[in-house]
Amino acid sequence: MATKELNIGFVGGGNMGRSLAGGLLENGWAPEQILIAEHNPDQREAVLRLLGLACEQSSATMAAKVDVLVLAIKPQDLKSAIEEIAASAQQRKLLVLSIVAGVREQDIQRWLGGGLAIVRAMPNTPALVGSGATGLYANALVSEPQRDLAESILRAVGITVWLDEESLLDVVTALSGSGPAYYLMVMEALEKAAVAQGLTPATARLLTLETAYGTAKMALESREEPAQLRRRVTSPGGTTERAIDVLNQGDMPGLLAKALTAATTRSRELAELLGQD
Ligand SMILES: NC(=O)c1ccc[n+]([C@@H]2O[C@H](COP(=O)([O-])OP(=O)(O)OC[C@H]3O[C@@H](n4cnc5c(N)ncnc54)[C@H](OP(=O)(O)O)[C@@H]3O)[C@@H](O)[C@H]2O)c1
Repeated sequence: MATKELNIGFVGGGNMGRSLAGGLLENGWAPEQILIAEHNPDQREAVLRLLGLACEQSSATMAAKVDVLVLAIKPQDLKSAIEEIAASAQQRKLLVLSIVAGVREQDIQRWLGGGLAIVRAMPNTPALVGSGATGLYANALVSEPQRDLAESILRAVGITVWLDEESLLDVVTALSGSGPAYYLMVMEALEKAAVAQGLTPATARLLTLETAYGTAKMALESREEPAQLRRRVTSPGGTTERAIDVLNQGDMPGLLAKALTAATTRSRELAELLGQD
């Protein structure tokens, strides 16, 4: 399946649909290969302004012209959106790639009428700046070329990992999906504490953000594990050790484990709710 011969159709041209389509354009896909159906006039205008693409009025018409459909709409809109595209998806045996948080493959499959190749993806908000982290799950009907295609779409906005079991997408949701909020909360707290100790807000913000960015970059580029890197910056009797002692007294690792479990549980609860007919 050579990508040069394929057309991709996005149902939804909001934040995520636009980011993915923009990533594909930057990765050499031709504008005529990317179709976007968007029913909100403001979003249509944004797609035209930011990507130079004119949106399709109807996802049903668009589905008749594409090889893969990317579902990039809010979970509560998914069932009605699928009603518009199901006939074409069945007739053309389209690959369906859903980035919709929480809705399970079996529910998407049921709404589509059954028997289709479906990939679920869980990206995260840094995808909006090309640094996303996405978990992917494919059902048994997805062929190897379709897996490659789904992966290449998400790789346009960051890194991807494949999961063998769909239930692990709930853990991915808790780790990388919700993860930006955890790191932002740490940044918020550090910045506030530094301002309380006399730094100007601008200085505190710059140092906080660059430290987060630099640490992630260093950990990504290093062969050492984060625990080892941390030990190397924690000299005995030094300032870092004193701070780490305080974090351990408050059981920061235990608290993060509890937070992750709570998010995974919530993801499973939402999947139950969203999959109801
Ligand atoms: N943003 C993230 O970082 C992120 C991360 C992981 C997963 N996701 C998932 O990605 C999905 C999309 O998120 P988003 O932030 O891009 O949403 P969004 O900005 O609300 O974009 C969705 C767009 O699709 C339109 N739409 C709804 N139904 C449609 C239909 N049947 N045909 C054509 N257009 C339709 C909506 O119009 P109206 O506003 O008029 O309804 C809206 O403009 C969500 O399911 C979310 O769970 C997002």
